[in-house]
Amino acid sequence: MTGTTGTTGTALGAPAERREGRQKVTGAARYAAEHTLPGRAHAWPVPAAIARGRVTAVDTSAALALPGVLAVLTPGAAAGLGDPEDGTLAVLRGPEVPHRGWCVALAVADTLETARAAARAVRVDYAPEPHDTALDPGHPDAYEPQEAGGHPGRLEHGDPEAAFAAAEVRVDVTYRIPPLHNHPMEPHAGTAHWDGDRLTVYSSTQGGTTVRSVLAGMFHLPEDHITVVSEHVGGGFGSKGTPRPDVVLAALAARHTGRPVTVAYPRRYLPTTVGHRAATVQRLRLGATPDGRLTALLHEVTTPTSRVREFVEHAAVPSRVMYATPALLSTHRAVPLDIPGPSWMRAPGEAPGMYALESAVDELAHALGTDPVELRVRNEPHEEPGSGKPFSSRHLVECLREGARRFGWAGRDPRPGVRREGPLLLGTGVAAATYPAQTAPSTAAARALPDGTFTVRTNATDIGTGARTVLAQVAADALRVPLDRVRIEVGHSDLPPAPLAGGSMGTASWGWAVHDACAELASRLAAHPGPLPADGIETRADTTGKAGAEGPYAQHAFGAHFAEVAVDTVTGEIRVRRLLGVYAAGRILNARTARSQFTGGMVMGLGMALTEHSTLDAAFGDFPEADLASYHVPVHADVPDIEAHWIEEDDPHLNPMGSKGIGEIGIVGTAAALGNAVHHATGIRFRELPLTPDRIL
Ligand code: MOS
Repeated sequence: MTGTTGTTGTALGAPAERREGRQKVTGAARYAAEHTLPGRAHAWPVPAAIARGRVTAVDTSAALALPGVLAVLTPGAAAGLGDPEDGTLAVLRGPEVPHRGWCVALAVADTLETARAAARAVRVDYAPEPHDTALDPGHPDAYEPQEAGGHPGRLEHGDPEAAFAAAEVRVDVTYRIPPLHNHPMEPHAGTAHWDGDRLTVYSSTQGGTTVRSVLAGMFHLPEDHITVVSEHVGGGFGSKGTPRPDVVLAALAARHTGRPVTVAYPRRYLPTTVGHRAATVQRLRLGATPDGRLTALLHEVTTPTSRVREFVEHAAVPSRVMYATPALLSTHRAVPLDIPGPSWMRAPGEAPGMYALESAVDELAHALGTDPVELRVRNEPHEEPGSGKPFSSRHLVECLREGARRFGWAGRDPRPGVRREGPLLLGTGVAAATYPAQTAPSTAAARALPDGTFTVRTNATDIGTGARTVLAQVAADALRVPLDRVRIEVGHSDLPPAPLAGGSMGTASWGWAVHDACAELASRLAAHPGPLPADGIETRADTTGKAGAEGPYAQHAFGAHFAEVAVDTVTGEIRVRRLLGVYAAGRILNARTARSQFTGGMVMGLGMALTEHSTLDAAFGDFPEADLASYHVPVHADVPDIEAHWIEEDDPHLNPMGSKGIGEIGIVGTAAALGNAVHHATGIRFRELPLTPDRIL
């Protein structure tokens, strides 16, 4: 956590404060719906009330009669647009309704209230068709996908079935996770305005570069006719990783009315509109020798996908990374259903997959009578089991040991159900974490000005992580100047293109380009005699060909989570007493914002374990838990003593900063650590999340 660069005090790794913090807490920071352009109108979507079928008629007369209503867009309004690659953006094309909540009309009015009233006054008639929302692996349309989350859908080494059948100790268990929703603080919103054939959008997105290219394709425009501004973004957790209907509808309505238009999705509409974490059913089979060496690991995932866009929650993939085994099976089975499309949610694949794997490992430890930390250490692989590649760095054992030391794991009584405190049963649990350390090509520009300051520009997005701050640290470090001499510009499509804030690869990707531009600028300055020209000197960097290249190493961050819970035997309520995470994620670039990312992930894992629950109602094909009154995210009172620590990891194979991503690993394994603690407390193995009181009693 100390600074790493000599005399200039740039302190890569220092706990620098967020640059935009004051703007945010004073309300000066503007979000996508807060760009009050002159004449700005508001639009409110009309969600489909059937799960499958066709719109047969739309009666807009009552809506249009309301004073202040400008237009009601109906199916066909988007008929001339280009085909989006992402089918969820193909709204208002035709009468087909692929799932409930699909946008079937859009009311546009002078005020938000009028737009909402108009949307409610629109009458839609449907021809419903039978729909199907049941997650059944035997579904006639179920299939094994070629690809899951960019990985092969199936991976098989050795003879896993035979190895499992022959194993002396066996665990064969199935875990279930319900659909989960992203629910960022700022719901999805877009403000659009046209100036002739030039389009400007203010978009709440994790990646403005993609928003521009998608809009260019759909509206038949050259990219340089489109400006995308994403100055501040109130979270996304994956749901803003790709453009959502809000920005398409805003652009469409603005073109139709000739006015700037904002579409700010009501929170209730998010679950059907912006993706969710798909439900998973995961069967884990572990075979082992009596001394606790894995001889077979089989991880089979069944998960739904929508009929609009294939998305497969790649929950079996972390089993290709974690433990040494001579026989490995990791497969997915996708069931296409008439449901709102699942998509990315913080640590897609790893978060649900490591819940199941790390719970099963705990079950195996219990069956063997082996300490669960020691069992993991004993099965540490020499190379990545799935690929056979060496790890660029892997300090999982160190995370487990350091976590055990800090948590006070030594001497733990392994017996379940024996620690009582009045009506409470107490328990502790552990689970490992992993998340890939990836990068994507990025560009950046750096300019030295005659007054001794620097401006660094890249179209990165700050979704609340502190991207501006850490990029300034990367720049100051490469330039060897104090942090306060560096200005950072992000969140605007006029800036050099950059990839999205997602996959825990934003900082590593943007930072690489920023580093390269600044390192070159530093050497240009060193060779530059005398004063700079009035407009300074600029360098540009493009990491294409370097970042994102398939290399000889398996690159992942690792971690270990420890949890203590109290289970109330009278009310069934579970209270978390302690959560502790230790991570090995390369070099930590900002101790303050990194801690916030780690603990934020852990809190989200706590929600996944204990409170967050959504149901796909088979009758309606929709989620009843559509607001924060019924979909329970953890609040402060639920969050205990929570600690995040890290191990200094020096990995030369990653990027010039030596950093791995940290945005997602905090959620990975947290739910398993809590579930394992609940087993230790109660002696009962609950295999379906969340662990709400009705399940515990
Ligand atoms: Mo994250 S789910 O990759 O935005």
